[in-house]
Amino acid sequence: MAEIVLVDRDGKETPVQGRVGVSLMETLRDLDNGVAAICGGMCSCATCHVWVDEAWVAKLPPCQGDELELLREMSSFKPNSRLSCQVPFTEALSGLRITIAPDD
Ligand code: FES
Repeated sequence: MAEIVLVDRDGKETPVQGRVGVSLMETLRDLDNGVAAICGGMCSCATCHVWVDEAWVAKLPPCQGDELELLREMSSFKPNSRLSCQVPFTEALSGLRITIAPDD
């Protein structure tokens, strides 16, 4: 089982079992303190925005194209911002620490 360390909008840190083989968003949207993911993963709503712990940023596929464009429009954008629907979650990412970004 692969674990995600989730920091919610209240700053509370919780370990969560991540669903492997699907996007990170698929795990997060099932949680009460996760993400809304309104567009269902179509890279058009940005309601799945998370900040990735600096130690993990380089271990993810790069943020580019539509994802980066959409993120840059957000006031809560940071260099470690990702749309969780665009991040495939794998066993190798077990321990990944993310923070749910505020509603924009
Ligand atoms: S779920 Fe809409 S952009 Fe990720």
